[in-house]
Amino acid sequence: MPETAANAPETPGGTVTDIPAAALESVRDLTGVMITTGRLVLTAPSPADVDAIYRICQDPAIQRYTTVPSPYEYEHARDFVEKVVPVWAKEGSNAVFGFYHATSGQLLGMIGLHGISGPEAKNGAMAEIGYWTAPEARRQGYTVEAVRAICRWGFAQLGLERIEWIAFDGNEGSRAVAVKAGFTVEGKLRSRWVHRGERHDGWIGSLLPGDPIPR
Ligand SMILES: CC(C)(COP(=O)(O)OP(=O)(O)OC[C@H]1O[C@@H](n2cnc3c(N)ncnc32)[C@H](O)[C@@H]1OP(=O)(O)O)[C@@H](O)C(=O)NCCC(=O)NCCS
Repeated sequence: MPETAANAPETPGGTVTDIPAAALESVRDLTGVMITTGRLVLTAPSPADVDAIYRICQDPAIQRYTTVPSPYEYEHARDFVEKVVPVWAKEGSNAVFGFYHATSGQLLGMIGLHGISGPEAKNGAMAEIGYWTAPEARRQGYTVEAVRAICRWGFAQLGLERIEWIAFDGNEGSRAVAVKAGFTVEGKLRSRWVHRGERHDGWIGSLLPGDPIPR
């Protein structure tokens, strides 16, 4: 049983806060979750973020290495914020958070734990991590900080027993982030995915509850 917000542990580099008690009953309604770290706040994106998400998702690296729609239209951003993320949160199937600069409030990127439950779930205690970061916010360690925080939260609050990282072969940036956050790269999945009309190899790695998550 996940802990309530009232007794959530202080975690190195971040504090898990503001999980409504009702969200921790049998149906894991993840609405209203907020996770704070030294520099960041992680919480669901709001309608005020639609313009920024639309702009950021035009980035060629995000289009190349993630499964965002391509071309990425304004309606995709609006639906994501207003429909997809809230429904996922309500059903507890995917926990998706924007990560924001704690002082300025600037949206820096998006991060999620996917397949926690529902049709995409591999079993009841696993999730797959995904993330993208705004081009102007890269190479400042924000993504690693967000990955560490959401993984600690996933273990502590969702009782996850394995968090998987999967990336297209050659996505060195994603791999560097995962390794820096403590993931073990487990291998290559040959010809595993068709993405934007081309078949790709993939990399897979994992983080387990007992693994050290570097500060
Ligand atoms: C991959 C991505 C999330 C990295 O974000 P970031 O904010 O630059 O990452 P961080 O600043 O936290 O960097 C963490 C480490 O990764 C390294 N790194 C980041 N991008 C890198 C790259 N392209 N190549 C090699 N190393 C990279 C950083 O140098 C840093 O290591 P250091 O502290 O030893 O220097 C970002 O480039 C991105 O959004 N890419 C497109 C979307 C994507 O690929 N998402 C992942 C899908 S699986």
